[in-house]
Amino acid sequence: MQPKIQTKIRKAIFPVAGMGTRLLPQTKVVPKEMLPILDKPIIQYAVEEAIEAGIEEFIFVSSKGKNAIEDHFDAHPELVSMLQNRSKVKELKILEDISFTPGQVAVVRQPYPLGLGHAVWCARHLIDDDYFAVLLPDDVIMNKISCLAQMSSAFAEKQGAYAAIMEVAPSQIHLYGAIATDLSQDKKSLPIANIVEKPKKEEAPSNLAVIGRYILPKSIFGILEQTPKGAGGEIQLTDALKALIGRVPFYGHVFEGARFDCGTKLGLVEANIAFGLQQDDIKDDLKKILKQYGAF
Ligand code: G1P
Repeated sequence: MQPKIQTKIRKAIFPVAGMGTRLLPQTKVVPKEMLPILDKPIIQYAVEEAIEAGIEEFIFVSSKGKNAIEDHFDAHPELVSMLQNRSKVKELKILEDISFTPGQVAVVRQPYPLGLGHAVWCARHLIDDDYFAVLLPDDVIMNKISCLAQMSSAFAEKQGAYAAIMEVAPSQIHLYGAIATDLSQDKKSLPIANIVEKPKKEEAPSNLAVIGRYILPKSIFGILEQTPKGAGGEIQLTDALKALIGRVPFYGHVFEGARFDCGTKLGLVEANIAFGLQQDDIKDDLKKILKQYGAF
């Protein structure tokens, strides 16, 4: 009998163990993933994106002091019964949108801050499918069809590993994983020939940067186990991805959508404005305010 080919990504890992030092003092007590874009925390955008892409199991790789994240997606019976008693239908629906069946959400701890690669590896016992997704919540992506849904569709057609990619200014490439690919191919999914974590501008293989959405094979865990510390003295996911090249088909996926780096002050402000301008109840007043500040 032919082995069954996986066409649907069911599980997603959300690395949320980072300390968020770039946003101190705000992140001293409140996890950066719980900072708001309008009325929702950053992490909820990533979880909603995963739901839209058909993800059924959500795995948070968390750490000390970050329990607010798992609490946000847990049941809150007291709040629900209070809202029911007051017939607050709209608010009940808002809670319903982030309620899960028991077992759908799992939390594993990353006990030491050893890097993104190590964080993903911490979830190895919870992954049994051949392929799974990883979403870095700092990267918030706004699009009608979510970024992971776009990647999942590509995967359904052509199995393999995927990393979301976009062009960035050459002066910014040192902040990202950068890939080498054959740009003569006019496709959305470009075979990755090389990948380097946070290269110097002069050494970058291109200005195509990896953005925090991945579809990865289970075999990445064995590779991560052997991956020595890399950039910044951390175990880098990118270094393990490099070892994937040649073992499984590996594509950079040019996604559609606007991406905001919500691990930075500017990215957070930009995301709040961009999402605000899309919300019917506030967009007109927001435009007036922006005009008042000389924005346009
Ligand atoms: C991580 C990855 C990097 C990727 C980036 C996308 O870096 O290591 O390869 O380009 O996310 O946001 P970080 O931003 O966590 O330093």
